[in-house]
Amino acid sequence: MKNEGNPPRLKELIPAGEIQRRVGELGDEISGEFSQILMENDPPLILLGVLKGGFMFLADLARAITIPVEIEFVSLSSYGNEQTSSGEVELRISPPIPLKNRCVLVVEDIVDTGRSLSKLLQHLRSLGPKEVRICAMLDKPEARVVEIQADYVGFTVPHRFVVGYGLDAAQRFRQLPGIFLLQEPRE
Ligand code: PRP
Repeated sequence: MKNEGNPPRLKELIPAGEIQRRVGELGDEISGEFSQILMENDPPLILLGVLKGGFMFLADLARAITIPVEIEFVSLSSYGNEQTSSGEVELRISPPIPLKNRCVLVVEDIVDTGRSLSKLLQHLRSLGPKEVRICAMLDKPEARVVEIQADYVGFTVPHRFVVGYGLDAAQRFRQLPGIFLLQEPRE
């Protein structure tokens, strides 16, 4: 952040109640569609949370999904402590997750440039899954650099810096239950 002595202001963009309502709808939609894709003897859907930002969405979405799931995490990082993507995406999966013939739902907080998901999908597809889909709480289509579209989206947001519900600014604000615009003091 530019000015630590004069803290930025937060302006509410999506209230917590609205997020919870939408998470419920996504849970119903995902449960219905994957119950059609999964055969009777198939192992459960894997919810693959993307750390750190996806932790809160994954926790809520998992409780809104009514079919059996397994939960795994990957760690992806591209921003450092800056407000714009560095363009370099670091992917950490440890230990390796066996995904051969599995149905996987990637659970992300936001699709911004699309670089993070693009790199993750490339890796996941190399592991031979049966089906990979993406669920993102937020989509910022105006920021897209790599062509990629989530299968399930909570809300479309403007090309502004947003925090809360897992999303941070220099590691702060992740715990907020709603989504907020980060405004500079002069705004
Ligand atoms: C953010 C966010 C997404 C990614 C989206 O993660 O959580 O994973 O950026 O941006 P992109 O579409 O431009 O790749 P970040 O790298 O900030 O790490 P964090 O989740 O640990 O905060």
